[in-house]
Amino acid sequence: MTGVAIASYLSEADERILANDVLDGLTRPFKELPPKHFYDARGSELFEQICELPEYYPTRTEAGILGDWADEIVARTGAGELVELGSGTADKARILLDAMARAGTLRRYVPLDVAERMVADSARQLVEEYDGLEVHGVIGDFERHLDHVPDTDGTPRIVALLGGTVGNFPPGTRRTLLRNMGTLLGRDDRLLLGTDLVKDPAVIEAAYDDRAGVTAEFNRNLLHVINRELGANFVADQFEHVAFFDDKHQWVEMRLRALAACSVEIGDLGMTVEFEAGEELRTEISAKFTRERLEADYRAAGLALEHWYTDEDELFALSLAGREGAQSPAG
Ligand code: SAH
Ligand code: TRP
Repeated sequence: MTGVAIASYLSEADERILANDVLDGLTRPFKELPPKHFYDARGSELFEQICELPEYYPTRTEAGILGDWADEIVARTGAGELVELGSGTADKARILLDAMARAGTLRRYVPLDVAERMVADSARQLVEEYDGLEVHGVIGDFERHLDHVPDTDGTPRIVALLGGTVGNFPPGTRRTLLRNMGTLLGRDDRLLLGTDLVKDPAVIEAAYDDRAGVTAEFNRNLLHVINRELGANFVADQFEHVAFFDDKHQWVEMRLRALAACSVEIGDLGMTVEFEAGEELRTEISAKFTRERLEADYRAAGLALEHWYTDEDELFALSLAGREGAQSPAG
């Protein structure tokens, strides 16, 4: 067994971030909260259940594409290191690590996630599963802590953001995130990005509003997080889950709708937030892509698409990108 190192960059300051996000988001004319606060222990568990739902096609489709192409991706890049942002349970990482092990290049896995326990648990399991693997876990926020990703020792690496997570950011923030991810790439390194594709809106809406109600519970869990962390008194059952495809922006939007007028005390902030009956709070967007749209995002972020892998129904895509100009010195 080789090394596990875990470094946490989340601190008391992060409670301030939740507090600031709540203060900022719940005092806007259209209430909104950023999605990273979903993933406490309960939220992470509910997300794992979402991944198993019959309606939620992205996880199994992306894992299928990875299964089909991991050897090709590793052969093409020569990668021996995987840096994964928003790594969660690391289930998909295993598919790539297996391919690196088969190719004989496997050296290190660097998972980065805000969900503390997920990073620690998966790191411990993975060093047991892979002989000689080094795991350097980073507990942090990929919008703020990318500079804590360790440098490579020269082994080519893949920096991955899977699960369609890139779609959870609005276009401007998304391009900033891609640009920042680009700073982790040397000329032999590649970005591996999972993006959900534009398709029949009914299929998309079902994926975000399952019959068993797991997604609704996941969405409402955000209110429990605020109650616990900031001494608030949301009555979560008084909010219903809403998911709809916004055709103009080509994203699915998740909201929580107040069933009746209510006022919520947020103890730690000394504030009261009023909801009118039927008022909605936006909790997440999940953008759906076309290849053209993603290429435009890459270009704006100083990156270039090199390979596009998809399933036969073109539900989901994985793409490999490099820093602009990295692939051919001749241009
Ligand atoms: N990659 C996994 C999990 C996707 S869910 C998969 O494809 O199935 C999104 C993951 O990103 C969660 O584990 C969540 O904790 C993490 N996450 C969301 N926002 C984050 C942020 N700003 N910084 C770090 N991790 C984040
Ligand atoms: N990144 C996932 C996605 O956009 C997260 C997700 C799945 C999600 N279902 C959700 C987020 C429901 C909020 C609500 O597909």
